[in-house]
Order: sequence, then C-alpha cells, then structure tokens
Amino acid sequence: MAEKIDLTGMNIPNHVAIILDGNGRWAKKRFLPRKAGHAAGAKTVEKILEDAHDIGIKYITMYAFSTENWNRPQDEVDALMKLLRKYLSDCIERANKNNMRCMVIGDKTRLDDDIVAKINELEECSKDNDGITFIIALNYGSRDEIRRATTKMAMDCKEGKLNPEDITEDTISSYLDTRGIPDPDLLIRTSGEIRLSNYLLWQLAYTEFYFTDVLWPDFNKEELKKAIVKYNQRDRRFGGVK
Ligand code: IPE
Ligand code: IPE
Ligand code: MG
Repeated sequence: MAEKIDLTGMNIPNHVAIILDGNGRWAKKRFLPRKAGHAAGAKTVEKILEDAHDIGIKYITMYAFSTENWNRPQDEVDALMKLLRKYLSDCIERANKNNMRCMVIGDKTRLDDDIVAKINELEECSKDNDGITFIIALNYGSRDEIRRATTKMAMDCKEGKLNPEDITEDTISSYLDTRGIPDPDLLIRTSGEIRLSNYLLWQLAYTEFYFTDVLWPDFNKEELKKAIVKYNQRDRRFGGVK
C-alpha cells in the first residue's frame, strides 16, 4: 500500500468546495444502473465529511443536485430524490452526534414539501453545532442564485429598504444563499471534467482549483490529502504582486 500522506505543518484550507462528479461512469464501469453509482457516491459524501473534519477543514460545500440536473431522465431524478430523502433523514440523526452544522443552498421552492420540511428540520436542529459546517448545494445553480439575489435587491430598492447607489460587493454577497459563509479556498472536481457547471461563480473568484480523474465514489481521504498538498504548492494571490 502507498505510504500515507502526512499533512503536518501544512496550511489547511478553511473552506473546500466539491463538485462530486462521475457517479454514472463509476456505475457503468461495473455494469450497474446509474442509481447504484449515486448510492455509492452518497456513502463517499459521508466518509469525506468525517475525513475533512479530522483534517481540520471548517467548511465543506458539496454540489449534490444542480438546477440543470432536472433535465436528466425522470427515473434518474426520482432515484436521486429518493436517495436525498434518506440522506437528509440520516443526516438529521448524525449531525448532533458529530457536532456538524448543516445548511442547504439553492432554490428550495422547486423541491417537494416533505424534502423542504426535512431540510428545515436539519438546519434548525444543527444550527448551534460548532464542528464542521456542511453546506449542501441542492437545486443549486449559480446564475439562478444571482438572479434570485438580484430580484430581492430590486424589491428592497422599490420598498425603500435599499438605496441602489449603496450597493457594494458586500451587499451582493449578503443577498446570496452563501451569506455569512467565507468564500472557498479550494475547489475540487472529480471525474476529469474541467468546468464549473454553474457552481459558485461569484464565490470562487479567487479560489484555487484542483481537478482529478478519480470518480467520486472512489474518492477518499488520501485523495483529499493529495488535493491539500497541491493547494500548499500554490502561490496564492489576490490581485496584488508578491
Ligand atoms: C454526479 O455524478 C452526481 C450528480 C450530478 C447528481 P454524475 O451522475 O454526473 O456522473 P457522470 O458524470 O454521469 O459519470
Ligand atoms: C455538476 O455535475 C452537478 C453536480 C455535481 C450536482 P454534472 O455532471 O451535472 O455536470 P455536467 O453536466 O457534466 O456539466
Ligand atoms: Mg456528471
């Protein structure tokens, strides 16, 4: 077995955002239905959350379902929603045991009422936990998030609660679903795709990107550590010279 990576003395990213991709291809390689890939992927989410906590990551945002994923075949969408229901119930049980705070970003209005009720329960019961913060992007699309924020800002201007001339970058951030959450330091996308697929476009402005060919169900603690080692080799800049 390969020697384990030692992160001692390394800079641990405060917030890691993940595009978990490749569940379908993982299943195809095994001649299994796509939903088996999603079930395996959900297990990986669980393990990676524990690993991230062990490593000392404070925030982790996972892309679970995009606004574009509704365009998948209905039986796959149904399987994903079924898995989500189970996942949210398990999370409600586990969050307090693991001192994990859970939040959901995305447009909840298109989700079924029972799913919204579970999300509300999960957010409420875990809100005082101060271990890792786990943010689930669900029916999330960055352009849609910006559109919703813009509508809300325009309404507040109309009602006299906001002055258009006072809108700063911080004002915009405060209208996004991610308000109060620090921007990601590291983005990881699995399965070899090199694109953002409408994920956190505003928030990733200065994030370091890491892409790996590993399919999401095969992603594990050592792979996460590899990404952190790469992150430590980067010369982070925010527009200034060094
Ligand atoms: C990612 O895996 C999970 C979701 C988008 C819900 P995919 O289902 O996109 O897997 P591939 O990309 O087809 O392999
Ligand atoms: C992005 O993956 C969305 C999620 C991981 C939930 P997709 O597999 O849906 O993205 P594309 O279609 O390859 O861009
Ligand atoms: Mg995919």
